[in-house]
Amino acid sequence: MKLNSLDDLFRNELRLLYDAERQSMRALPLVAQHATNPELKAVFESHVEQTRVHVARLERIFEDLGEPARGRNCHALGGLIAEVEEWFAHESDPAIRDAGLVGKVQRIEHYEIAAYTSARTYARLLGQNDIEEILQATLHEEAVADVRLGELSHHLNVEAHLVDQR
Ligand SMILES: [Fe+2]
Repeated sequence: MKLNSLDDLFRNELRLLYDAERQSMRALPLVAQHATNPELKAVFESHVEQTRVHVARLERIFEDLGEPARGRNCHALGGLIAEVEEWFAHESDPAIRDAGLVGKVQRIEHYEIAAYTSARTYARLLGQNDIEEILQATLHEEAVADVRLGELSHHLNVEAHLVDQR
C-alpha cells in the first residue's frame, strides 16, 4: 500500500477505524454481560447498537469513495480489548469489576475519538464534505458516550472505594 498523499493517509485511517469498530462490535456484548451495575450494562448495550451504525456509516463512506470496505488490522484496539477481557476474567468483587470496566472501555472511546477527529479533519482538507459530515456525526456520538461513561465512572469509583471500608 502506497502512502504518498493525504488521501492515502485518509483511506488508511478509515481502514483502521473500520477494523476498530468491528472489533468493538464483537467485544462489547461480552463486556456488557460482565457489568453488574444496570446503568453501566445499559450504556454498554446501547453502545453495541451505536457501533453497528458506525460500521454501516464507514461502509457507506467506502462506497462513496468507490472502494471496497476493507479493514486494516488495528493493533491498538486489539490491545485495549485484550486488556478488558483479561480484566473480566479475574474473579473480583462486582463493584471493583465495574469500576475497572468503565475505565477500560473509556480508553477504547478515547482511541476512537482521536481517530475520528483525525479522519474528519482529513476529509475536510480533502474537500470531502459529505464524508466529513458522516464522520462528525459518529464523532459526536462517541463524545456523548464518553461523557456518559465519565459520569458513571465517578459513581462507580466511589462504590469501589466503599469496598475497602466494608
Ligand atoms: Fe464507534
